[in-house]
Amino acid sequence: MAFPESFLQELCDRNDIAEVVSSYVRLTKRSGANLFGLCPFHSEKTPSFSVSQDKQIYHCFGCGKGGGVINFIMEIENLSYPDAVRHLARRAGLAIPEEERDENHSKRERMLEINRQAARFFYDRLRSEEGQTARDYIERREISPSMVKTFGLGFAPDSWDSLCNYLMKKGCTKPELLSAGLARASKKGDGGIYDTFRNRLMFPVIDVRGSVIGFSGRILDDGEPKYMNSPETLVFNKSRNLFALNLAKKSKKGYIILSEGNIDVVALHQAGFDCAVASLGTSLTPEQARLISRYTREVVIAYDGDTAGQKAAQRGIDILEKLDVKVRVLRLEGAKDPDDYIKKFGKAAFENLLAQSENHIEYRLLELSSKHNLETDEGRVSFLKDAAELIARLSGAVEREVYAHKAGDMAKVSGEAVLSEVVRFRKRLIAEARKKRDRQVQSPVKIVQPKERSLRFENTHSAVAERGLICLLYYEPSLFNKLEVKGEDFSSPILGRLFDELKLRAGRGLGLSLSLLAESFSNEEISLLTDIVQQPQELSNAEKALSDYINIIKTEKLARQQKDSSHGDELLAVRDEMLRRKRYGG
Ligand code: CTP
Ligand code: MN
Repeated sequence: MAFPESFLQELCDRNDIAEVVSSYVRLTKRSGANLFGLCPFHSEKTPSFSVSQDKQIYHCFGCGKGGGVINFIMEIENLSYPDAVRHLARRAGLAIPEEERDENHSKRERMLEINRQAARFFYDRLRSEEGQTARDYIERREISPSMVKTFGLGFAPDSWDSLCNYLMKKGCTKPELLSAGLARASKKGDGGIYDTFRNRLMFPVIDVRGSVIGFSGRILDDGEPKYMNSPETLVFNKSRNLFALNLAKKSKKGYIILSEGNIDVVALHQAGFDCAVASLGTSLTPEQARLISRYTREVVIAYDGDTAGQKAAQRGIDILEKLDVKVRVLRLEGAKDPDDYIKKFGKAAFENLLAQSENHIEYRLLELSSKHNLETDEGRVSFLKDAAELIARLSGAVEREVYAHKAGDMAKVSGEAVLSEVVRFRKRLIAEARKKRDRQVQSPVKIVQPKERSLRFENTHSAVAERGLICLLYYEPSLFNKLEVKGEDFSSPILGRLFDELKLRAGRGLGLSLSLLAESFSNEEISLLTDIVQQPQELSNAEKALSDYINIIKTEKLARQQKDSSHGDELLAVRDEMLRRKRYGG
């Protein structure tokens, strides 16, 4: 399934890489032409992720990932090549040329349609006679009619087959219902199926594009399990989605509230906090955090006050901080969860709580203080050591000073004493970071090797020349017009393939931009190519470089052949001699 070249070209033209990347990564301009930010593909504290607008590529010096705009979307949204193309087409408002829809794509569309019909069915059942128990429950939980509508709440009747029957009458097949997770196969093995969701209050899970991708069903009494969620399907993955993000992403609050239960989310929206979301029965995952970070730079965690909730909050903080998202944690004194809190104390009280909520450093200091016995000298010393380490990692000097004094107050020692400990720690951190950077610079062979194991070069000497040749071809394709070099001469198969493809495209006058290559190569392979083309190249001496590179590649190839035919000692000696001359200018 291939998209036409001209369409892809326009797609890349209309999706500037800096703009696309900016909706995931905060980019800042430093000296030079590139933009920099914290890499979204690995965790880091100092930016090694760069975007070049003239080359339309991104590249991370830390983890080695790189490519054009299509690869970027494939990586960050976890999409296949065609889906990434569709995603960008939608973004730019481009119509996709008559595509032969691939099978998965139409299956997905079909599943979304079935989910939509199921949501409709549940919604109608809630209003029917059999929906009385669910309506009673809604009333008891004080959920307003307008929230029922906003969230599209519904009711799955207390029956084994009402949804299946309804959807089958509308033309759905059994396999379709099973793969959408709406039905389960009967244990009798007689090919029968039954409804997955029965006698539950239904919450459609809607993704940020507005498609119903799955459901959460809450039990109507104190039974277990409290929630039942759609199983993983082609369109639903509970660790990659958040309940109510479709609504929260439109909020003007500027932050997002993360809670645990769907009922809490509804209660928060009802009280005017239209920025509340919940994960779907897992603690916050890195994928969910990344999703959130597309819409906000600040998250307020409002989990249940029990220890499980507080542990989950701690994990959430760690994950979100890595993405440069500010985190605050609410302490819901005197209530079990946000819903309970608002019911007991009102929304103004909750607003207050938000305003004075501890930021995460205070939260962590409190956490630390509860781990040590501050009544003993020993306990105070070990608390202050841990606290100083925590504070030393803060990037703002004022922040460091403020929290050093806080920690001092907690342990009843002077803030100055804590601060000097912080300074000591910070020096050590900086020295360590510097050492690490130096080590990286000192190992050029490592830099040449791709991160991906399967792509590693056997012959690094030849590989350096092969990379150089690819780089030249990329920037000066005209040099190659009459040149007889082929990828098969290369020592590295992947470099050979990249070279051939670029040469072929250059010969046909096609664009060489990395995005256009995304279909023929894996993300790892494109990352390798990105690494090659973003290396500084001295083009003034291109012709000399060209002949040097070719020389090396040919000599190495000869040596390989001779080694294979196992009587190549002489030739190996010749090669070594040539290499010596080359290196020492003889
Ligand atoms: N949960 C789940 N699936 C969801 C939502 C929540 O499995 N779609 C799980 C959470 O992991 C957590 C619990 O259910 O363990 C959340 O419960 P709670 O906050 O009590 O849910 P509420 O809907 O607010 O219910 P309650 O009326 O009891 O407050
Ligand atoms: Mn709750």
